[in-house]
Amino acid sequence: MDQNDDGASQTYTATARALHWITALGVLVMLPLGLTMSYRGQVLNLWDGTTEALYSTHKLLGFLLLWLVAGRLVYRLVHGAPPDEPGLAPLQRWGAHLVHWLLYGLLIVVPLLGWIGVSLFPALEVFGLFSLPALAAPDEAAAGRVLGLHGKLALATGALAALHIVAALYHRFIRRDGVLRRMWPGRG
Ligand code: HEM
Ligand code: HEM
Repeated sequence: MDQNDDGASQTYTATARALHWITALGVLVMLPLGLTMSYRGQVLNLWDGTTEALYSTHKLLGFLLLWLVAGRLVYRLVHGAPPDEPGLAPLQRWGAHLVHWLLYGLLIVVPLLGWIGVSLFPALEVFGLFSLPALAAPDEAAAGRVLGLHGKLALATGALAALHIVAALYHRFIRRDGVLRRMWPGRG
């Protein structure tokens, strides 16, 4: 275990907090970005420069996010987390751990499915400048299925993240305990 001891309660390390907030920001940008670009492309059938740029940005950001989350996961497994906030009911503790590990899993599986999907399509080009490495041989029918699953699991990630955010606000404003402070930037 490797965490800061601030006396009353323990916080995540500065690195863990930085990784959390960069990932959170990334996911909160990727969800509306994915929905907007696929609405323009699939629903409006509007394949102009803006739609292309949105797709390129989504692929590049998602690809970078995948490696960031992989690094974060390794960091988490090596350094652990501070002991649970005291005073939580067992159900709250288990629920929180379950949601956190599901989020970690989805943050790996969702971008990986996106990457496999664009490999199958194939649509690996980013801004017409370079291509992501291919993970599979072209197969357009399979691409449709994989990207469909990618979209559904991305929405599930959004729903879990919303639950997670509501829980953090509940701890901060209703229970008024130290849970949010454990992850807050700075020294809390
Ligand atoms: C955490 C990372 C990611 C999140 C949260 C995310 C989220 C989303 C969302 C919400 C959609 C729209 C789904 C829908 O319209 O139902 C989408 C579509 C898409 N994503 Fe991602 N994505 C991520 C990473 C990636 C990566 C790494 C790639 C490829 C390298 C990728 C490629 C695509 C493509 C091609 C679509 C469009 C599918 C279509 O138009 O039918 N995504 N993504
Ligand atoms: C406003 C947005 C957010 C707030 C206020 C927030 C708050 C928190 C807090 C307080 C913790 C620590 C919980 C504890 O002490 O046990 C935490 C952990 C975590 N959060 Fe968030 N979070 C936000 C957004 C997100 C998003 C968007 C994601 C990913 C989709 C995410 C993923 C995680 C994960 C995986 C952990 C577990 C950390 C670990 O134990 O390694 N969070 N968050």
